Amino acid sequence: MVLAFEGETIAAALLAQGIRTLRYHEDTGTSRGFYCNIGHCFECRVTVDGIDGQRACLTPLKNGMDIHTGRTLPSPLKKGAHLP
Ligand code: FES
Repeated sequence: MVLAFEGETIAAALLAQGIRTLRYHEDTGTSRGFYCNIGHCFECRVTVDGIDGQRACLTPLKNGMDIHTGRTLPSPLKKGAHLP
């Protein structure tokens, strides 16, 4: 469980807790984290309430959200991938 302020971004809450690895690259397996922090790079994708590929830097926190990091998620650039 992470305590944070409702309305701040998921990224801000995770960074405040020292969490830097958000997922693992789908091809290389390398750890991925925040990069642009403005919604352009998609490096910060996490799973929110069962929906993969949510950008942590753009998604505001709500009470009771279920957020998972450390997964390997499909690239939003590959054919058939679902963009959030
Ligand atoms: S850090 Fe680039 S989209 Fe979130």
